[in-house]
Amino acid sequence: MQDYTGKAVLVTGAGGGIGRAAALAFAARGAAVACADIDAAAAGETAAQVEAAGGRALARAVDVRDESSNLALVEAAEAAFGRLDAAFLNAGILRRGGVMDTSPEDFDALIAVNLKGVYLGMRAVVPALRRAGGGAIVVTASSVALRADAALAGYSASKHGLIGLVQAAAGEMAPWGIRVNAICPGAVATGMVGIDTSPGSPLALLHPLGRVGQPSEIAELVTFIASDAAGFITGAALPIDGGLTALTSPRFRG
Ligand SMILES: NC(=O)c1ccc[n+]([C@@H]2O[C@H](COP(=O)([O-])OP(=O)(O)OC[C@H]3O[C@@H](n4cnc5c(N)ncnc54)[C@H](O)[C@@H]3O)[C@@H](O)[C@H]2O)c1
Repeated sequence: MQDYTGKAVLVTGAGGGIGRAAALAFAARGAAVACADIDAAAAGETAAQVEAAGGRALARAVDVRDESSNLALVEAAEAAFGRLDAAFLNAGILRRGGVMDTSPEDFDALIAVNLKGVYLGMRAVVPALRRAGGGAIVVTASSVALRADAALAGYSASKHGLIGLVQAAAGEMAPWGIRVNAICPGAVATGMVGIDTSPGSPLALLHPLGRVGQPSEIAELVTFIASDAAGFITGAALPIDGGLTALTSPRFRG
């Protein structure tokens, strides 16, 4: 298990699902965690769970679409913990639809949260990471950042954009000792999915492993990539998808 003792980590979208699991996992490894979400009560609940498990946490409302909100979050985290070593820029939204049935408003919303929100998050956290002597940024993309889903046109576009952003940022920030990576989960059992994820469900069977992922499994990868043990990984888009993007059909049929 990685050791984050003495380190501070910021997590956006920490109010539920993957972000909450990651906040708990960072804290279990010794990090102080700034738990941020547009849902302040949900961020507070995550921070309470971290503290109940013996960890150190700060809860904070953030709207990742807003530059000053991102800056205020980083200022609060640094003020509370004295430093910032890693950021998990994970907040996101889902809107379903192909090109023809995604409204321009929904398309804008997807880009504003999923893509521009991460760009603004990077701009806010990088000065703090540099003050700490370097660090790591992990971004939540998706399996649909690698292979699009025709029923998720705007979402796929926003997540594809993240890969380009992460690759560019990795090059820009390498001289500052900051590694930047994306994770690309397949379906994960969180509130976002909104359809049946049980074993045997159509969504589960899309994945060669025959099931969806659990938030705690994604958190294992996030805490590894943000740690010094992953010191030679940057600019990567790492699938964590039960084989979904590796195969053209989910199961061998003979
Ligand atoms: N669940 C999946 O199947 C899956 C698969 C691949 C990628 N992802 C991505 O994982 C990330 C986390 O999603 P999740 O599955 O845990 O779902 P979730 O809905 O539980 O978590 C997303 C969180 O982001 C927050 N959020 C939304 N808009 C925000 C904003 N403007 N500012 C700050 N916070 C905001 C929400 O309040 C929520 O707590 C998202 O980026 C999502 O796109 C999810």
